[in-house]
This record gives sequence, structure tokens and C-alpha cells, in this order.
Amino acid sequence: MPTKIEKDTLSGRETTGHEWDGLKELNTPLPRWWLYTFAACCLCALVLVLLLPSIPYGSGYFHGLLGLSSRATVAADVKAMEAQRGIFMDKIKTMPIEQVKQDPQLLAVATAAGRIAFATNCQPCHGPGGEGRIGYPNLADDTWLWGGKLADIQQTITYGIRSGHEKARNSTMPAFGALGVLKPEQIEAVADYVWSAFYGHAEAGADLAKGRALFVENCAVCHGDNGEGKRDVGAPPLKSAVHLYDDTRAAVVTQITNPHLGVMPTWERRGNNTGLDAATIKSVALYVHALGGGE
Ligand code: HEC
Ligand code: HEC
Repeated sequence: MPTKIEKDTLSGRETTGHEWDGLKELNTPLPRWWLYTFAACCLCALVLVLLLPSIPYGSGYFHGLLGLSSRATVAADVKAMEAQRGIFMDKIKTMPIEQVKQDPQLLAVATAAGRIAFATNCQPCHGPGGEGRIGYPNLADDTWLWGGKLADIQQTITYGIRSGHEKARNSTMPAFGALGVLKPEQIEAVADYVWSAFYGHAEAGADLAKGRALFVENCAVCHGDNGEGKRDVGAPPLKSAVHLYDDTRAAVVTQITNPHLGVMPTWERRGNNTGLDAATIKSVALYVHALGGGE
């Protein structure tokens, strides 16, 4: 038997036929636009669940029909970048270092690689910013023992200083005291002279004329007549505010008596795969050159 459709007298709308204590329920269906939007959303969700990585199960997950994976995308990007970097490093390896410096793109790659190689290999001795410490020269200032041109730096890094490599930079300040070349009072006199004339500290009552004579006779050949230093023998400038060893008179006496003769390792790649490859040495040389003191 067809139910009679009842209309609410106040609103004029159909009721559902339900009634509680005289209250009747109006028949108010969801708007069409809302229903369609809802259905469309459900459909979209279903399509996305099917296409994209979605439902987890056990030890894995449903990868989606498109097979997308951000991890795979990143891995592919990294691979492409490494290939590109390899091409650049190959170019750096074969090009003269001055030419690498002229090419902005290669220079950027070299400087980045040089910074990493420096942090790994050089920082323990020369400090994080190349600022050095006692016995380990500052690489970021204008004072150079052996030279601050790109080629000088490259050579120092490749073969080292007193490293035992046949092409190493070598020079030996004689042990004037230990070998008995100078008597203790002569050492004191020349130290007085160096301390006052070059290091810039007054030394009361010192016989500077005697110290000067000893200096000219024994030291000037390497350190220069006026303490300006000589790069071909790696003799530091003594007339300088920057010193390789401590800025004390005792350190000057120690150096004259029994010199330290600092050792800088060779970084040339050796048979047992230690050292750095040629492109990395050039990169680290460019990085050091750019620290501030490059010539
Ligand atoms: C084991 C310590 C040590 C390590 C590691 C080391 N150096 Fe040195 N380096 C020295 C010492 C010591 C000297 C100075 C030697 C001397 O008395 O002439 C020196 C000197 C230098 C000089 C010459 C500076 C000048 O004034 O002429 C350069 C350039 C240099 N180092 C670069 C590097 C670079 C780049 C690395 C990393 C690849 C490195 N060093 C790693 C100890 C080290
Ligand atoms: C054959 C060359 C040579 C002669 C000669 C020589 N020196 Fe040196 N001197 C060097 C070198 C190389 C160094 C740095 C190397 C090292 O010991 O690490 C140095 C370092 C020094 C230093 C330390 C400088 C610093 O920056 O801390 C002093 C001081 C010094 N010499 C004084 C003298 C005096 C004084 C004489 C003469 C009695 C003398 N030297 C003779 C080569 C020489």
C-alpha cells in the first residue's frame, strides 16, 4: 500500500513520515553538489591509492602503478651529479692550475673539493681555517716560507717539506749550538740581536754590534742581511710580526742551538694508495691560495 506523502504545514516541505511525540522529521536530502563533490573525492582518493606508493603491509608497501619513489629519484640525481663532478675533476687533473683558476665553473668545483680535502687532511696541523699554530705556518696570511703563488703551493703540497720525498723542499738550518759552531755566549749575543732588531723587543745591555757581526757571518746567507728571509731555502723572515715558532727569546735561543726543522708530509699519491690524487692536490692548492694570502 503506497504511503501517503505528508507535507509539513509550516514549511510546506515533505516529511519522512517519522514522528516522535508530535515532532515530525522533514525530508531534507543532502544537496546534489555536495554529493557529487563527495563522490568525486572518493574516486580521486581511490585513483591515487592505486597510482602512488600507498598501502603498507608486513615488511613492505604497495608501490603504486606509476612506480614512483623519491628515494630512487634522489639516488638518480646524486649519480648524475657525481658523473658531472667526475667530468670536472678529470678536467682539473689535466689542466694547468692557473687555467683552472680562470674557469669559474671548474674553480667552484675545485674550491668545494679543496675545502673538504683540507678539513680531512690538513686541518689537524694547520687549523680549521688554515690559521696555523706554533711550528705549523699560518696559510691564510701574507707571510710565506716557500712561496704563495699557486705553483709554489701546489709544489709544497705535492712533495712536502723535509718529507723524505726526493723532490721535497729541503733546507737545514745548522744546529749552531749542538754542533759547537757557536759558543753559548755567541748564541746569546746573536739571539739578543735577532730579538731586538727583528722581533722588535728591547734587550737592555746587549752588545748588538757583536750580535750583528755574528748574524751577518752565520745567518744572513739564509735569513737575508736584514732578516727578510729567503724563500729558496724556506728561511722564515725574522723581521716580521708573524713567527713560525714561539715569539719568545727562549724560542730564538732554542732554534739557534738545535733547530726544529719542521716536517710537512708529501701528498703525492703513492703506490699503496695513500696521499691525494692530482686533481685533489690542485683543488686543495686553489683552496689554500684563496684563504687570503695567495699571491
Ligand atoms: C703533520 C702536520 C702537517 C700536515 C698534516 C700538513 N702540514 Fe702543511 N706544513 C706542516 C709544517 C710543519 C710546515 C712548515 C715546515 C717548515 O718548517 O718549513 C708546513 C708547511 C706548509 C705549507 C708551506 C707554507 C709556506 O709558508 O710556504 C703549505 C702550503 C702547507 N703546509 C699546506 C698543507 C696542506 C694543503 C695540507 C693538507 C693537504 C698540509 N699542509 C698538511 C705540517 C703539516
Ligand atoms: C741554511 C739556512 C739557514 C741558516 C744558515 C740559518 N737559518 Fe734560521 N732558519 C732556517 C730555516 C729553514 C728555518 C725554519 C725551519 C725550521 O726549523 O722549521 C729557520 C728558522 C729560524 C728561526 C725561527 C723563525 C720563526 O719564524 O720562528 C730563527 C729565530 C732563526 N732561524 C734564526 C737563525 C739564526 C740566528 C741563524 C744564525 C746563527 C740562522 N737562523 C741561520 C734556515 C737557516
